[in-house]
Amino acid sequence: MTMQSRQENPVRTDEVDWGWTPEELRGYIQGNYGEGVIREDWVLGSVAIAALAVHAHDQGLFGTLSRAAHLGAGGVPRGSAILAPLMSDRDEGGKIVVSDLGADNVAETRKVMEDLARGRLGKWQPHQDKMSRSNHRWRGSFRRAGRLAVVEQCDIRDLPPKSQQAVAMEYVAESMTADPHEHAKIMEAVCDGLEPGGVLYTTYMIGSDGYLVGDKVRPAVPVTVDYIGKVLRKNGMDIIFNGGTDASHQARIEGDPHAYDGMGVAVALRRSD
Ligand SMILES: C[S@@+](CC[C@H](N)C(=O)[O-])C[C@H]1O[C@@H](n2cnc3c(N)ncnc32)[C@H](O)[C@@H]1O
Repeated sequence: MTMQSRQENPVRTDEVDWGWTPEELRGYIQGNYGEGVIREDWVLGSVAIAALAVHAHDQGLFGTLSRAAHLGAGGVPRGSAILAPLMSDRDEGGKIVVSDLGADNVAETRKVMEDLARGRLGKWQPHQDKMSRSNHRWRGSFRRAGRLAVVEQCDIRDLPPKSQQAVAMEYVAESMTADPHEHAKIMEAVCDGLEPGGVLYTTYMIGSDGYLVGDKVRPAVPVTVDYIGKVLRKNGMDIIFNGGTDASHQARIEGDPHAYDGMGVAVALRRSD
């Protein structure tokens, strides 16, 4: 499907059934983060950690934030782990609200976070090991994420304005609709959810034409790095880093006919009003 045909008849997010079965969700996680881990994703996580570390070190942010949201988690705890070293301890008020729209996705996310809090990292151990190499403050961050997590069912579009000091969102806004206008609205809600100086960490698929969960096709907007940069700036963000992997560095889920050009990551700060 081309961008043009999609624009003529875009799939909007409310037309999608976001109720993944537990089997579909486990298949998705195993395919993307388990045995079939997409290597590009480790690159993005490590780059984000390095960019965040520069900012957190300069501003003295490590261990200081209390309000963070991890949006569209889908049973994947990594976004919370990336934010965790910036957060104060739970008994000092630090919490990461980890959320998703689908009830089963919320239940799976809760289970994952509870396991992490008990130090059972399972398939996330290699992610912890790889990511810690970017900055020593990220050692132990998956376990810390589990302890800081409050898991809730929540629609991104309902995020209250200026409510968060940090937001993590991995492969969500561009992967929940095929309508570019709707994608722009979702990005606006996410950026507006940050208070001035608040930190956004987000990853996105570049040039995706949709993806499979089980045998169901999910929609996507085929964004570029430049486009995401424009969207972020338009929504009041100062960008610390925004970049993507090259099309020569890809690993595909076997049998997935859907294509993408790469994976991107942005770390940005909400400007003061
Ligand atoms: C492509 S998956 C990404 C999952 C995970 N963040 C990851 O890194 O693999 C998109 C996720 O967004 C969730 N989602 C879709 N629409 C949403 C909405 N309006 N609010 C919150 N989450 C939503 C889906 O349920 C799904 O878990």
